[in-house]
Amino acid sequence: MDTLLNLQALPAGAAIGGPAVALGGITLFLIRKYVEDQKKKSSSFRPPPEVPGLPVIGNLLQLKEKKPHKTFTKWAEEYGPIYSIKTGSNTMVVLNTNDVAKEAMGTKYSSISTRKLSNALKILTCDKSIVAMSDYNEFYKTARGHLLTSTLGPNAQKRHRIHRDTMINNICEQFHAHVEMYPSEAVNFRKIFQSELFGLSLKQAIGEDVKSIYVEDLGTTLSRQEIFKILVIDPMEGAIDVDWRDFFPYLKWIPNKSFENKIQQMHFHRQAVMKALIEQQRKRIASGTEINCYLDYLLSEAKTLTEQQKLMLLWEAIIEASDTTLVTTEWAMYELCKDPQRQKRLLLEVQDVCGPDKLTEEKLCQLPYLAAIFHETLRKHSPVPIVPLRYVHEDAQLGGYNIPEGTEIAINIYGCNMDQRVWESPDEWKPERFLNAKDNTAELHKTMAFGSGKRACMGALQAMLISCVAIGRFVQEFEWRLKEGEESNVDTLGLTTHKLHPLFTIIKPRN
Ligand code: HEM
Repeated sequence: MDTLLNLQALPAGAAIGGPAVALGGITLFLIRKYVEDQKKKSSSFRPPPEVPGLPVIGNLLQLKEKKPHKTFTKWAEEYGPIYSIKTGSNTMVVLNTNDVAKEAMGTKYSSISTRKLSNALKILTCDKSIVAMSDYNEFYKTARGHLLTSTLGPNAQKRHRIHRDTMINNICEQFHAHVEMYPSEAVNFRKIFQSELFGLSLKQAIGEDVKSIYVEDLGTTLSRQEIFKILVIDPMEGAIDVDWRDFFPYLKWIPNKSFENKIQQMHFHRQAVMKALIEQQRKRIASGTEINCYLDYLLSEAKTLTEQQKLMLLWEAIIEASDTTLVTTEWAMYELCKDPQRQKRLLLEVQDVCGPDKLTEEKLCQLPYLAAIFHETLRKHSPVPIVPLRYVHEDAQLGGYNIPEGTEIAINIYGCNMDQRVWESPDEWKPERFLNAKDNTAELHKTMAFGSGKRACMGALQAMLISCVAIGRFVQEFEWRLKEGEESNVDTLGLTTHKLHPLFTIIKPRN
C-alpha cells in the first residue's frame, strides 16, 4: 500500500530525466508485484491438500517401496486427485486426474516446462543432453528436429519399415523353431522379443545390429548381451537409484561416494561402448558405405551439435526404442493368454481382414479390435507410470489450486488411468471400452500413456506400429496360453512397468 501512495505522491516533473525513469521503473515493478501479491491473497485459489508426513523427511518413508505410482494412486482416493507431499525439503504436487494432467502438459506447459532431474539422472543424461530430459530450449528444438526427421517422424518411419518387418518375421521364425524343438515347453517371450527389438533399435540408430565389439577404453571385447546391459539395463536401473541428497539439496556438500561411483561407472561404460560403436560406423562411412540411420544423418546434418551431444542422442534413440514397446507387447500377450475368448475375437478380426495373408502395417486401420487391445494394455499397464518430473518455474494455478514457483510436479499417468470417475471398473482389462471410440487419436490421448501436449512421446507411432503388428501376427500364427502358475506373475519392476518375471507361454502353431 505504501508503495502505491508513494507513487501517487510523485510530482509529475520527476518523470523527466534518466534517474527519474529508473526510479519510475523500480516503482512500477514494485506496484506490479504488490498488485500480484494482493491478487494471490484475495484469489479463491488455495494450496492443494497435504498428505500428512513426518517432520524433516516429510512423506519419504511412505514412499520407500519403489512403486510410487501405486502409493500416489492410493493417496488420491483419500486426499483427492491433486495433493501435495513433502519429499524431504522439497514440495511435490501430484496430479492423478486426466483434466488437470492435461492442463499441466498443455495450457500451463509454459510455466511447468523445466525438467527436475535426480542426481542419478543428471549424470546419466549428461545434464539434460537428451531430447526427453532436456528443458524447452534451443538444444531441445534442434535435437527434436533431427530425431523426427531421421528416425521417428512418419516419413522416417516409412524408410525404417524394413527393420520392423524383419524383426516381426525373425520373432515368428524363432517361435516356430522353439515349437519344433520343444513342442510342450513354454517359450520365454521376453528373451526373444527383447533381443530382436534391441537389434531394430541398433539398426535405426547406428545402421547395423552388432554381435560383439572391441571397446578400447575398457580394453576388452563385449558380447551383444553385455552391450545391451551397459546401454539399456544398467542405465534403466541407475535412473531410479536414490541419492538421499536429492531430498535435502542443502546437504549436497556431504559426499555420497558409493552412489556417485556406481552411477559414474555406468556413465563411463556407456560412454566407452557408444564411442566404440560410433567409431566402427565412422570406418564404414569412410569406406564409402552409407546407411539410412540416425548416426549417418547426425554426422552429415547436425553441424551445430558437439560430438558428445551426438553420442548422447544416439544412445537415447537406442534405449528408448529398446524398452517400452517390449513392456506393452509383453503385457498385451499376457492378457490375451489369460483370455481365450478375446484372443479368439482378435483372431477372427485378423482372419476376416487378412484372409490367408500375413498381417501387415497397411491392414492396421481396418483392425479396430487390435487397436483397442493396444490402448487398453497401455491404460492398464501404463509403461511410463509417472511422467518425468518437472518443476514450476513461475507461480501457476492448476485444477483450481495455487502452485507456487519451485514446486515439483509429478503427473501420475497410472493414477489417471485407474481413475474410477473416468474409467468403469478400471482394474479390469477390457479392450471393448475403446471400441466405441469415434476417433483413434482422441483415445490415444485419453489414456495419456504417451503424455500430452508439446512434450508428448515422439516414439508413439513406432511403438504402435511394432506392438500392433506383433500382437496381431502372434495371434494369427499361434494359439497362446500361459504356462502353469504364470497367471499370478503380475508384479512389476523398474522405471518402466516391466513385468517382474518374463512372460512364459505355451504356443501352438495354427494351420
Ligand atoms: C508404448 C511405448 C511408449 C510409451 C508408453 C511412451 C511414453 C512416453 C511418455 C509418457 C513420455 C513423456 C511425455 C512428457 O514428458 O510429457 C515420452 C516421451 C518421449 N518418448 Fe516415449 N513412449 C513409448 C515409446 C517410445 C519409443 C519407441 C521412442 C523412441 C524410439 C520414444 C521416444 C520418446 C521421446 C524422444 C520422448 C521425449 C519427447 C519430448 O520430450 O518432447 N518413446 N514417452
